[in-house]
Amino acid sequence: GASSLVLGIETSCDDTGAAVLDLNGNILGESLHSQKEVHLKTGGIIPTVAQQLHREHIERVVNEALALSGVSPQQLSAVATTVKPGLALSLGIGLEFSRRFVTQHRKPFIPIHHMEAHALTARMTEQVEFPFLVLLISGGHALLAVARGVDDFLLLGQSLDEAPGDAMDKVARRLSLTKHPLCSPLSGGQALELLAQSGDRTSFSFTTPMGQSLDCNFSFAGLRNQVSLVIEKKEEEEGVAPGSLLSCVNDLAASVQHTVACHLAKRTHRAVVSGGVASNQYIRKALSLITEREGLRLLCPPPKLCTDNGIMIQSVCINPLTDIVLSLLHVDPVLFLRA
Ligand code: KG4
Ligand code: ZN
Repeated sequence: GASSLVLGIETSCDDTGAAVLDLNGNILGESLHSQKEVHLKTGGIIPTVAQQLHREHIERVVNEALALSGVSPQQLSAVATTVKPGLALSLGIGLEFSRRFVTQHRKPFIPIHHMEAHALTARMTEQVEFPFLVLLISGGHALLAVARGVDDFLLLGQSLDEAPGDAMDKVARRLSLTKHPLCSPLSGGQALELLAQSGDRTSFSFTTPMGQSLDCNFSFAGLRNQVSLVIEKKEEEEGVAPGSLLSCVNDLAASVQHTVACHLAKRTHRAVVSGGVASNQYIRKALSLITEREGLRLLCPPPKLCTDNGIMIQSVCINPLTDIVLSLLHVDPVLFLRA
C-alpha cells in the first residue's frame, strides 16, 4: 500500500546514493555523495579509492536520506540495494552496509540490478506501460532493450566495444577539458556538451559508426580513434603539446557530440532513454526527431535521475499495480513497441 517505504542504496561505481521512497515513487528523502572530483584528479576511477570513499560516506548518506524523509529505520518495509553490475569493491560497501542494516532492523532485502534500475527510472516521473523500448547510455553501457516487465528485459543490442560516456570521457581527457576552468567540476561528457554549445558541428566530419550493419548494436571505439587521429594532426599543425589544443576544441566537441547523437538516433526508433549520457540535451534532441517522425513520445527522466543515484534503485520497486491502474484509466499509451 501507499504506506510501504523502501530505503534504496546505490554504490556500484563512484556515487554513494541513498533515498527513501514510497511504492508510488514519491521521493521522501534523498542524499548523494559524488566522488567525481577525486577521480577527475587521478584521471579515472581507482577502485580502492572509490571503495574507501564509499566506506567513509555511506553511513552519513543513508542517515541523511532517512532524516530528510522523517522515516525511522523501524518504519521501513524493505531495503533495496544495487548488487550488480559494477565495481566489485564499490558494490561491496553498499552490500556490507545493507546486510548490517537489515540484520539490525530485521528488514527484508531486495537485490537490485543496476541496469534495470536505470532502465526503469522513466517510470518514476512518467506514466509508462510495459512493454517499452529502453535505450540505456551511460559511462559503462550502451544497450537497447525491450522492457517487458519489472524483471523481464529482452536485449536487442549493445555496444560491441566501449560505452558512449566512456568514449566521451576519454576524448575530453585527451583534450584536457576537465582541467579547463569552465568545466572543472564536470564529467567529460558534460564538459563536451558545454563546449559544443559554442562549436560548429560541421567543422569536422566523423563517420557515423556501423553504417553498414543492420542490427541494433553500437560501437564507439572506432569513433574515438578517428577523433584521436584528428586531435593529433591538429596538435602537430599548431605545434602544441599533446592535450593543449585550444583553437578548435569547441568545434571538435560539437562534431563528436553530433556523431554520437547520430549513431544513437539511427539505431533507435522509439525509446525510453536513461543513464548518465541521457542527460545530454543534444542527444535528446536527436532522439526526439526520430520519435516525432514515428509519432511516438520520447521519455527522458530528468538529468538528476539519469546519472547514478539512490533514487533510481527503487524504480524497480514501484508497485506494478500502478501501470495496470493507469491502463484502465486509459492514460496516453506511450512507447509501445510496434511489432
Ligand atoms: O549513469 P552514470 O552516472 O554512471 C554509469 O556509467 O553507470 O553515467 C556517467 C557517464 C559519464 O561517462 C559521463 O561523462 C556521462 O555519463 N555523462 C554525459 C553527460 N552527463 C554525464 N555524457 C554526455 N553528456 C552529458 N551531459
Ligand atoms: Zn549507472
